[in-house]
Amino acid sequence: MLVNLNKLLPRAREKRYAVGAFNINNLETLRGVVAAAEALRAPVILQTSEGALEYAGLEYLAALAHTAAKKTRVPLVFHLDHGKDVALIKRVIRSGLYTSVMFDGSRLALKENMRRTRELARLAHARGMTLEAELGVIKGVEDKVSANKDLFTDPAQAAGFVAETRCDALAVSIGTSHGAYKFFGTPKLEIARLKAIARTVRVPLVLHGASGVDAHALDALHEKCEVWGDCERLSGARGVPDSQIREAITYGVAKINIDSDLRLSFTAAVRSAFLNDKKMFDPRMYLGAGRSAVEEVVKNKIKLFKG
Ligand code: G3H
Ligand code: 13P
Ligand code: ZN
Repeated sequence: MLVNLNKLLPRAREKRYAVGAFNINNLETLRGVVAAAEALRAPVILQTSEGALEYAGLEYLAALAHTAAKKTRVPLVFHLDHGKDVALIKRVIRSGLYTSVMFDGSRLALKENMRRTRELARLAHARGMTLEAELGVIKGVEDKVSANKDLFTDPAQAAGFVAETRCDALAVSIGTSHGAYKFFGTPKLEIARLKAIARTVRVPLVLHGASGVDAHALDALHEKCEVWGDCERLSGARGVPDSQIREAITYGVAKINIDSDLRLSFTAAVRSAFLNDKKMFDPRMYLGAGRSAVEEVVKNKIKLFKG
């Protein structure tokens, strides 16, 4: 069954657990995520970035999500992640294929972010869809800017932003960033800032850039790295420790976005499959290994988010 965020997140926030939101780009990642959800009977959010739509095509990804929803008993949300292009978001809303969208207006001036978020929330609600908004900037792998607290979500603005825009969930910037390189020194989220936001904001909060990039994932990727000649490739990569994810959940975070951990595990499994059989040329063999690796990661995330 496909549902929207409001069917899952308010209860999650109230009961202090979080629902995993996993980025899918192809059949293998979708099947890996859904298999994990089914095995643990847990709802999940399937999300596609604008890049995923460019890569795979909106209708193809929607067909995958809708087929999964027909075949499984666990509730699934089909969500547009980081929608920035207003025309594209409107197309997604009008298509009726999604149950939820995110408008990422974080790089706009506050007033303009509010104005566009409000307009898109109205359109989404008219179709029974939910809208996630973002206040404060969550840095991405493409950004050259270093950590800058001015970009973090201002607790003084948050409640007004939510009331004005009527968004259903709010993505906050509290020190995470997208990609595998999240922290220069010790990983540390601004939990005091999150607490202050949670005190006044009632809608569920969303943690982006939440991948763990743990040692196990990096070891798996670098198995026999001398063969690939990239033993240093991800040196300095650092993610969010599990303990800080748990802490964030206790202060209102009810949706947790994971992409990088899926990419790392998928790639590690594909590499390993090639290393184990150099004569292999059946894509089902190495893509199947990637899909199983995604399933394992998602199972671990679901357990972590449940507490
Ligand atoms: O938030 C960003 C996600 O990791 C999606 O990344 O735009 O490369 O698909 P992408
Ligand atoms: P990661 O890069 O930490 O997996 O974050 C993904 C994300 O926030 C997608 O919106
Ligand atoms: Zn994100």
